[in-house]
Amino acid sequence: MTDNSILLIIGGGIAAYKSLELIRELARRGVKSRAILTKAGTEFVTPLSVSSLTGEKCYTDLFDLTDEAEMGHIELSRSADLLVVAPATAGLMAKAANGLANDLASTTLLATDKPVLYAPAMNVRMWEHAATQRNLATLKSDGALFVGPDEGDMACGEFGPGRMAEAIDIADAVEAYFAKASNGPLTGKRIVLTAGPTHEPLDPVRYIANRSSGKQGYAIAAALRNLGADVVLITGPTNITPPKGVELIRVQTAREMMVATEKALPADCAICCAAVADYRPATETDHKIKKERGGLTNIQVTENPDILKTISQMKAGRPPLVVGFAAETDDVLCYADVKRKRKGCDWIVANDVSPGAHSAMGGDRNSVILITEKGDEAWPEMPKQEVAKRLAERISQQLAKPKLVSAAE
Ligand code: C5P
Repeated sequence: MTDNSILLIIGGGIAAYKSLELIRELARRGVKSRAILTKAGTEFVTPLSVSSLTGEKCYTDLFDLTDEAEMGHIELSRSADLLVVAPATAGLMAKAANGLANDLASTTLLATDKPVLYAPAMNVRMWEHAATQRNLATLKSDGALFVGPDEGDMACGEFGPGRMAEAIDIADAVEAYFAKASNGPLTGKRIVLTAGPTHEPLDPVRYIANRSSGKQGYAIAAALRNLGADVVLITGPTNITPPKGVELIRVQTAREMMVATEKALPADCAICCAAVADYRPATETDHKIKKERGGLTNIQVTENPDILKTISQMKAGRPPLVVGFAAETDDVLCYADVKRKRKGCDWIVANDVSPGAHSAMGGDRNSVILITEKGDEAWPEMPKQEVAKRLAERISQQLAKPKLVSAAE
């Protein structure tokens, strides 16, 4: 639980319903909300719904004298640690970018001395309009923070960027802001993390891959970010949305992942969570291989670089903590410990991916054994987000320890 609080400004957009979810999600994370609902916002959600969820009065009108007696807009604008505008409509962004103050929401945005996080939500054309992009640039240069917009189907029937970020992503961005602002335990630490599968091309249409979803790696990236770390997430192709507030590098192949990882170093910690393909086709042709000519019956493969091993065995610039993963189908503990020693990493997070076990690969839950130089710890089965949180906490404890200096140094 934290003592942090936000002032949520709910603009007039169909995405306003997600702001109700946001209030609940933040409450779950110990963040209190107070809310202002714009006049247009009241067309989409009611002040009663908002106040029921915040447990506070919902502020709606600048010129309500009782409100001014109760809490004026200046006081309101400074009553929270962070202002969150969600949905941030094109109109609200335009007003804020130009310092216009003609209602409670815009006056509050002008009066505040607190940082502001915007979650834009609007039609794709409105988002892409030069005026909105200008306002976005102005707000950013004024120090505003942004989460989203996402790309997808829109309520207006169009497709593209403009959908408001999901409540969970906005809550993540709020949590990440508070972690940084309050010097979370990983503030100032740089962590490089690989996630997802790799795709190893055979020809322009085919590739070799595996069932990794990227869920566990993405959850770890989010958990580290929530503790204040600067996270570089190097990801193979996945179908899930990567966490906000991390530096995202997309790659396809193991070799690209290797190059990106080396480039992202030095770091305080490297976590190799990716299910890197151990082998790739020895030759990649630039034309589709014809099955009639038997080209697919005998695929020659060659070994891929081992990213975890390479980083673990770096002579100079090795991250002080290197964590690997081991997906095993039998004798999980024994094979994983052998792997830790063979690769030279500090910790291994082992999990059972045998067909009998619950499916860690692609699923939402995981049961892992953390193997360190001190021994092994079996964690009970839990959601991947919980595994991530626990691992991030362990990493922050480890990085907080004073560095051992060898006698030779
Ligand atoms: O050898 P194995 O693939 O079982 O090792 C798994 C661990 O090694 C994971 O941490 C994975 O991210 C990493 N790995 C890697 N590069 C490879 C193969 C595995 O970084 N080419």
